[in-house]
Amino acid sequence: MKFTHSLSSLIFLLPLLAQVHATPLSFKGGVAGNNGGAGGAAAAAAATATSSAAATAASSAASAASSATANNSNPQDSLTLDPKVVATGFENNGQDVPAAGQVASLTSANNFINFCLTVPNLPITNGQQIKTGSCNPAPMGIIAATTNMPSSKFVVPTNGQNFAVNQSFTVQMAVSNLDTGFFVNADENFFAAPQQTGSTGNIQGHSHIVIEAVNSFTDTSPTNPNVFAFFKGLNDPAANGQLTADVTSGLDAGTYRIASINTAANHQPALVSIAQHGALDDMVYFTVGGDGAAGNPFSGSGGAAGSTSASGGAASSAASGQATAASSAASSAAAAATSAASTGKGAQGQNAGKGGNQGAQGQANKGGNNAQGGNAGQQQPGRPKGGSPFKVRRDTKNRL
Ligand SMILES: *[C@@H]1O[C@H](CO)[C@@H](O)[C@H](O)[C@H]1NC(C)=O
Ligand SMILES: *[C@@H]1O[C@H](CO)[C@@H](O)[C@H](O)[C@H]1NC(C)=O
Repeated sequence: MKFTHSLSSLIFLLPLLAQVHATPLSFKGGVAGNNGGAGGAAAAAAATATSSAAATAASSAASAASSATANNSNPQDSLTLDPKVVATGFENNGQDVPAAGQVASLTSANNFINFCLTVPNLPITNGQQIKTGSCNPAPMGIIAATTNMPSSKFVVPTNGQNFAVNQSFTVQMAVSNLDTGFFVNADENFFAAPQQTGSTGNIQGHSHIVIEAVNSFTDTSPTNPNVFAFFKGLNDPAANGQLTADVTSGLDAGTYRIASINTAANHQPALVSIAQHGALDDMVYFTVGGDGAAGNPFSGSGGAAGSTSASGGAASSAASGQATAASSAASSAAAAATSAASTGKGAQGQNAGKGGNQGAQGQANKGGNNAQGGNAGQQQPGRPKGGSPFKVRRDTKNRL
């Protein structure tokens, strides 16, 4: 995304507006008289500009109005809501099924088409990135099916990776279920059209990466989203399933997190059809100018050792807490395998034997997953328990 264009037009407009306002308000006495001439000239020019702009606006409004009338058979031009697209469920505030703490939804009988009238203090978003907030009237659009939920995973950097200060590197991010390469003008069409999907049902969109400094790997303070070390829109289509971005000048020394921001073409966050889903974005932590060890929960031998076997992990990282994790993962793996075997679940036992594949993919439901804890040292070195991260824990109370 580019922010420079809108900013520079704003900078251009501001003095002009200031002049228009200044003329009637501020000139008094002799000194002002001199300036008054200049002010008058400026005002005259501004007035001409304004009146011609007004004329243009009026004529374009007139033509919009006439085309709306002439085209009222085309629902995409009509100013009237077609009854076929009224979401009648929006009339229900949801409190017919009460839940502790649940609040009533706003309701609407007309798809909220005039919602922004309820916040007259806010401008219409109108395709722009209005930093002070705005009200956006575009509908959300096509919601991706569960079979088409986007997902991303960083290939470079990996968790705990270290780069030298100022060292150029290329971020690589694998992405699935996103039709990449679709991006609109971020200054003129921001949030300005509904989310759309392609022929396979994938959201047509693009991604971004953002790198933010954090105090350490164990920092618990929320970051300030206004502050980041690097940002890039990944506008090209993915090549071999991966998007890339060059961090050409590298970064200062520090600890960082890098996150993806997967979006639809008009830059809105990807929307999918269910509330309970895995993260649609990825985030990993890395260092610059570190040795990759001190205070780095991803460093040490847990990862490497874990890649071959759980017992390797335990043996070679005896000094670290990860050894315990790997070892307990291994024993819970063994236990689960035994229990899978004893309950006669042959198929799951086989999966268990294949190591971390299912666990790595986060497929969560079968007993056999615990048996894959043997690779926990590789996949989840920082986790306190082997198989548990992959259990589905649903809050049945809130259904979310
Ligand atoms: C009706 O709309 C179409 C496109 O939406 C436009 O090309 C056409 O000129 C419009 N017709 C009239 C009579 O305004
Ligand atoms: C990194 O680059 C900055 C300028 O971009 C420079 O001030 C700094 O000295 C460099 N540090 C190293 C270690 O190269």
